[in-house]
Amino acid sequence: MTKEAFRLISPGGTESELPVRTGTVGPDVIDVGALYKEQGVFTFDPGFVATGSCESDITFIDGEKGLLMYRGYPVEQLAEHSSFIEVSYLLLNGELPTAEELDTFDHTIRTHTMLNEGMLNFFKGFRYDAHPMAMLSAVVGSMSAYYHDTMDVHNPEHRDIFAHRILAKLPTIAAAAYKLNIGQPFMYPRNDLDYTENFLQMLFSVPAEPYEIDPVSARAIDLLFILHADHEQNCSTSTVRMAGSSGANPYSAIAAGISALWGPAHGGANEAVLKMLEEIGDKSQITKYVAKAKDKNDPFRLMGFGHRVYKNFDPRATIIREMCHKVLKQLGRNDSPMFELALELEEIALKDDYFVEKKLYPNVDFYSGIIYRALGIPTSMFTVMFALGRSVGWTAHWLEMISDPQGRIARPRQLYQGPPQRDYVAIEKR
Ligand code: SDX
Repeated sequence: MTKEAFRLISPGGTESELPVRTGTVGPDVIDVGALYKEQGVFTFDPGFVATGSCESDITFIDGEKGLLMYRGYPVEQLAEHSSFIEVSYLLLNGELPTAEELDTFDHTIRTHTMLNEGMLNFFKGFRYDAHPMAMLSAVVGSMSAYYHDTMDVHNPEHRDIFAHRILAKLPTIAAAAYKLNIGQPFMYPRNDLDYTENFLQMLFSVPAEPYEIDPVSARAIDLLFILHADHEQNCSTSTVRMAGSSGANPYSAIAAGISALWGPAHGGANEAVLKMLEEIGDKSQITKYVAKAKDKNDPFRLMGFGHRVYKNFDPRATIIREMCHKVLKQLGRNDSPMFELALELEEIALKDDYFVEKKLYPNVDFYSGIIYRALGIPTSMFTVMFALGRSVGWTAHWLEMISDPQGRIARPRQLYQGPPQRDYVAIEKR
C-alpha cells in the first residue's frame, strides 16, 4: 500500500520526496535510500534505535503492547499448544506443518544429530574450564571446514541441508562442551528420543548407569527454546544477516551470531542475572543495589531489566515467571531463595520511579536462569541455552536474507570526527 511521501526540504531549499512503506502491522518506514544522492547527507542513528534494516516476514514485536508473534502466531499460543520442533518448522517454512510434514521434519532432525567424528577432536584442544560459548562459536564455525560439498548459498537444497544441520547438531555440540567442562565422557545422541529429551540425555546421562528422562525438565526446556526462538532484528540476528550479506558461508554467519549473543547486554544477561542475584545475596541488600543501578556514576545495571523494544512487559518474561513457580514446585524446589529474591527485586524495582519512568521491566533473561539452575544446568551454560533456542531464528533470517532477490551487502556509513587531511611527518621532526 503506497502512502503519502514525507517531504524533506533542506536549509538550502532542496526538496526530497521520501517514499513511505507500510507493513502488515507496525510502524510505517521512510525509505531514505535516495537521501544522499539528492541531499548529500546520511541519516544518523547509532545503535539503530529507529532504523529498519530490512523487510521480514518472520517475527513481529509490539513493544508497547508486549506482543511477540512468530509468522503471525502469538508466542503465548505457541507456548501453550506447540513444540520447539514444530515452531522451528514454522519459523523456517512460514506455515505450521501438517502431521505428515512434521513427522518428516522431526525424522530429518533426529537422524542428523551426530557430529563428524573428527569434530570431537576440537574438544580435546580446549582447556577443561573453557567457556561453553567460546567452544560453541568455535565448533559451529568449524562446520564450514567439514561441509564444503553443500555450501553454495544460491543452491536451495544446500540451504535446506544447512538449516537441518544447524538445528540438529547444535545441541550435540553444546552438550559436548558441557561434558568437557565437567570431565565426563561425551554422550552420543539417540534417535529414539525427541529434541529436548535427547539434549537432556546428552547433558546428564553417563555410560555407567541408565538415565531416566524427567518429563517436567524436558517440557520446561522445550518451552524455553520456543520462547527464545526468534526476536526480529535483535543484535545477534542482525549480526547473522550482516555476516551472511557478504556471501560468507552460513555456518560462519551463525558463529558470528553466537559471538554477538554472548555479550551481557544481550544473551549473556541470563548468566549475568544469576551472578547479580548471588552478589545481592538477600532481600536486605536489594535497596542498595537498586540505588546503584540508578546511580549514573555507577556502571552497575540491574541485569535482566530493560529492553530496546519492550517498553512494557516482555511477554516471554511473564510466561517464564509463571513457569518458574510451576517447575520449581514440580521439581520440589519451590523454596528456591534465588527465585524469592528475584520476585522481591522485581517488586521493589517496579515500584521505583526511575524504573517506572524509564520503562524498565524484567526481560526474557531475568527469570530463565532460575529455571535452568533448577534443572541442574550450570550458569556458564545459560547463554548456550539461549543460543540453542535462537539458532532456528538466526537460520530463518539467514534464509530470508540470502533468498532476497533485492539483497545487497550490508555496509553502513558514518559521521567522521577524526583529524582533517594532513601530511606525513618524518620521525625526526615529531
Ligand atoms: C536481550 O533486542 C532484543 O530483542 C534482545 C533480546 C532477544 O530476544 O534477542 O530480547 C534478548 O538481549 C534482552 C536484554 C538483556 N540485557 C539485559 O538485561 C542487560 C540490562 N539491560 C540493559 O543493558 C539495557 O536495558 C538494554 C541493553 C537491554 C537496552 O539498552 P538500550 O535500549 O540501548 O537502552 P539504554 O541503554 O539507552 O537505556 C535507556 C536508559 C538509560 O538511562 P539514561 O541514559 O536514559 O539516563 O535506561 C537505563 C540506561 O542507563 N537503563 C538501565 C537499565 N537498562 C537501561 N538502568 C539500570 N539498569 C538497567 N538494566
